[in-house]
Amino acid sequence: MRVWVPLDAAAKALGADEVAKALTRDFEVTRNGTRGMVWLEPLVEVERDGVRYGYGPVEADDVAGLIEALRSGADHPLALGPVEDLPWMKAQKRLTFARVGVIDPLSLAEYEAHGGFSGLRRAIALGPDAIVDEVTQSGLRGRGGAGFPTGIKWKTVAGAKATQKYIVCNADEGDSGSFADRMLMEGDPLTLIEGMAIAGIAVGATRGYCYIRSEYPDSIRVMEAAITLARQEGMLGGSVLGSAHAFDMEVRVGAGAYVCGEETSLLNSLEGKRGTVRAKPPIPALEGFLGKPTVVNNLISLGTIPWILANGGAEYAKLGIGRSKGTIPIQIAGNVKHGGLFEAAFGLTLDQIINEIGGGTASGRPVKAAQVGGPLGAYIPAKDFDVPFGYEELAGREGLLGHAGITVFDDSADMLKLARFAMEFCAVESCGKCTPCRIGSVRGVETIDRIAAGDADAIPVLTDLCNTMKWGSLCALGGFAPFPVMSALTHFPDEFSGRGTPRK
Ligand code: NAI
Ligand code: SF4
Repeated sequence: MRVWVPLDAAAKALGADEVAKALTRDFEVTRNGTRGMVWLEPLVEVERDGVRYGYGPVEADDVAGLIEALRSGADHPLALGPVEDLPWMKAQKRLTFARVGVIDPLSLAEYEAHGGFSGLRRAIALGPDAIVDEVTQSGLRGRGGAGFPTGIKWKTVAGAKATQKYIVCNADEGDSGSFADRMLMEGDPLTLIEGMAIAGIAVGATRGYCYIRSEYPDSIRVMEAAITLARQEGMLGGSVLGSAHAFDMEVRVGAGAYVCGEETSLLNSLEGKRGTVRAKPPIPALEGFLGKPTVVNNLISLGTIPWILANGGAEYAKLGIGRSKGTIPIQIAGNVKHGGLFEAAFGLTLDQIINEIGGGTASGRPVKAAQVGGPLGAYIPAKDFDVPFGYEELAGREGLLGHAGITVFDDSADMLKLARFAMEFCAVESCGKCTPCRIGSVRGVETIDRIAAGDADAIPVLTDLCNTMKWGSLCALGGFAPFPVMSALTHFPDEFSGRGTPRK
């Protein structure tokens, strides 16, 4: 009987290590990635006759009873039935996350048995131009948030003349309510390595860096172990899978600045410099790491590449809505009953995601709003939850898809305080390079404090300031901080007026 206990950081925070240790005395325990159902973690899986049965959430104190039930074949109160049959799992379209939770993340044999390497093998057979065509055809757009077409970015780098090119994976996942990058690294690191190797072959880059935030120690450990494994097996090195292509990569650890998720700031940090934003142009595709043409892609974009190459860009493009093609790993967090990672084709409405899949609030109170796209994303009020999950669809409601993280709030949320938090976040994380963000965010906090104190005259000042920051900031940090502020003000105006004692 094989037993599985996640090594995922969220599962560990909920006691998975203790549970695994207790089970190891009686069973062969494999540490897998998470299935993404955080409310069931630690989720123990027991494999019988090829079917994985779930038990969760299991605490260390439950283990003795669980072992007894497994041995005797008796029922157990935490039994969930076959994991693949749970509604959360059945309703998904798992492409990027197909292997996460299923395999041992550091077993090349299991990786291959579940479709690993097939994208890379096909890429080697196709050659650079056809790989770029396949990615372009898939319609894949940057999953970091900006949604720039990945195929076009790769074409730019492929066409640039240089002696050295680089692939940089942005794994500096800083958005609140976002954890897809971490879950993929911890649950299926080889798929990212495969995606980066394919990118290298496509654009003629022989070196790659995976820039991971220091707050993700488990991801760093698993990625480093996976890179060592990949080198030993010839997936990385002078001859990728025996081909004429060379590609190798390493992990670099960030020091914890949110702005280092911005690509040029990340490149500065990677070069050992202070993480400040560079002006664009030049774009990194032409002058990136050490001034050389560089593909900077979000981890989810790169992690989706093996599936696209294995199954074809046209297959991927069949999914989704409008210009949002394929699937998106939605991260549901905040005050929600069922939080976690849910991969689905673009197009579900926010109502479906939050109220049907997420089950509404954990507090049982009505949902008031959801912030979509991290700390710089807009607050979407519950009345607008008919909006489909897609880049243009959310932009049409003054919102932002971002990294597809959703944070849910119930009717007790104080929207002015949340608006203040957004401005304060910007003030704290600003790299200081441009005036609208560096000074504007500090003035923004002060202006919101004036409104909180009852000064209604400060409301137009805040609107004006937000416009200046939106259009005058050098990067998305200062440029997007107005989104949560203005959405809170627009949708919940009553919470910004009549507060405190009016100033004379
Ligand atoms: P951007 O629109 O300036 O650029 C998007 C990407 O396209 C960049 O990589 C850029 O270099 C590339 N690009 C543009 N023109 C190109 C061309 N002609 N050829 C090749 N490449 C080209 O957006 P930016 O500033 O990179 O990202 C902003 C987004 O980041 C926001 O939408 C926000 O959602 C997201 N974000 C994500 C976070 C996360 O934790 N994942 C955190 C903060 C923001
Ligand atoms: Fe730096 Fe803020 Fe300007 Fe971005 S907007 S360059 S973070 S000061």
